[in-house]
Amino acid sequence: MQLFLDTANVDEIKEINAWGVLSGVTTNPSLVVKEGKDFKKVVKEICSIVDGPVSAEVTDEDVEGMVRQGLDIATWAENVVVKCPLTANGLSATSQLSKKGIKVNVTLCFSANQALLAARAGAYFISPFVGRLDDINQDGSALVAEIVEMYHMQGLETQVLAASIRTPVHVTQAALAGADVATMPYKVFKQLVKHPLTDAGMALFAADWAKANQPVSAKK
Ligand code: G3P
Repeated sequence: MQLFLDTANVDEIKEINAWGVLSGVTTNPSLVVKEGKDFKKVVKEICSIVDGPVSAEVTDEDVEGMVRQGLDIATWAENVVVKCPLTANGLSATSQLSKKGIKVNVTLCFSANQALLAARAGAYFISPFVGRLDDINQDGSALVAEIVEMYHMQGLETQVLAASIRTPVHVTQAALAGADVATMPYKVFKQLVKHPLTDAGMALFAADWAKANQPVSAKK
């Protein structure tokens, strides 16, 4: 399973990219607005940093508008992926854009049937929203597993991108469900590497090393 960052913050992307484990980035209108920067500028900058797909979302709600925006976004960088919502209009736009060879990430997916429709429309990624389902007392991780199984049984090639990830446990669950990608906020990415026993082990090794390497006079 590939690991993506769900952010439009360039500093966060640079920091995690330096770990050598970042395979892509997803953004959405809320995340872009939070940065207070020009949409096109920030997407182009992210695309130049990350060696992998970077999703940028259309904001129009009618088919023509989405297709127009999608065609424009697709020219911004080679690794840009157009994000369309899982509405009837979003499916039409996805179908038109994917027929032109543009990669589309269909977002705001909350059911297996929606995921089936997105795949039939030619989506490159489907983004089931794990955390937002958990928020309303439904099992978001179970939906990821259901879509993975359904796509496998049906021979559908759309990649399953677990989104709205809120905790490290969501990441493990997505990986165990066979998701192709999990996209997560910076905070969750940082949590993945942390373990108190790793910190304690490092402190012990450092203390023992310092003791063994102190000057002979100090050892007496
Ligand atoms: O980018 C879409 C998704 O990951 C949003 O997450 O936490 O706002 O539900 P969240």
